[in-house]
Amino acid sequence: MVNKKITSIDDLSAKDIQSIAEQAIKFKKSKKNYTRKVSKNIFNLFLEPSTRTTISFELAARKLGHNSININFEKSSLSKGESFNDTMDTLISMKPDALIIRDKNNFSPREIEKKNKIPVINAGDGTNEHPTQALLDYCVIKEIFKNKKIKIGICGDIKHSRVAHSNIKLLSKLGYQIHIIAPSYFLDKGGIEKINNKIIFHKSLNSVKNLDILMMLRVQKERIRKNAKNLMSSFKKNFCLQNKHLLNKPYLMHPGPVNRNIEISDDVLNNYPNSLILRQVEMGVYLRMACLKYILK
Ligand code: CP
Repeated sequence: MVNKKITSIDDLSAKDIQSIAEQAIKFKKSKKNYTRKVSKNIFNLFLEPSTRTTISFELAARKLGHNSININFEKSSLSKGESFNDTMDTLISMKPDALIIRDKNNFSPREIEKKNKIPVINAGDGTNEHPTQALLDYCVIKEIFKNKKIKIGICGDIKHSRVAHSNIKLLSKLGYQIHIIAPSYFLDKGGIEKINNKIIFHKSLNSVKNLDILMMLRVQKERIRKNAKNLMSSFKKNFCLQNKHLLNKPYLMHPGPVNRNIEISDDVLNNYPNSLILRQVEMGVYLRMACLKYILK
């Protein structure tokens, strides 16, 4: 039998995405906790910091009646100098039923799945992808707009954002109209056009009108160390979201964590009535329950 995996949005068909989203929305409505005679052991290996993804995967496993075993860099023998491959071989020897991994290296979840043939979920790999974030964002969009094909803007550090890459793939697969708003230093236009050549690009938040949803992204300062200070201050000056950009009242999304007053002003973050940011966090638990159910089938 071939193992299920979510190492990229590429692993999922449009039908898979819809069925995972429908399951997540069902879990949210039922709010039920499950007990099992035989629980699965789910290893959560987080080698980069996380609040939302790590806790929601742990909660999701518990709510489904499974065991969640959490390991991070500081608590693992990686911090004593063990190599990544030796650590992986060690974990695999303990026979996890599934592995959730966040890593700074692009494509490592895919490589682990290929080598070990166990169900793997990518919880964010470098600048590549964060498929469960895109799936949970889609669940929130689906809850509000059902199957209506709305206009969605994605603004910010597209180039270094795994969230943007997964969202662009997912929304393109489902036929949404996508607007990208970004300065040239945060954009690899050619790479994005390879995913979808119908995307519309904008150089300023002032030039996009009538969006249904505006998704702001975190500036990935840890991935742009060399020029971080200059780029953050240029971005803040030209792209920090203010009330004047929200006159047609789009819904506002952000995967979190937010760099306050870099991507979104305090005033918008604290007071904008159409913000979905905490609803995204809440959906994260139910979506990850649906993802675990999908890969453990
Ligand atoms: N959105 C997201 O991945 O947040 P965390 O880094 O807190 O998990």
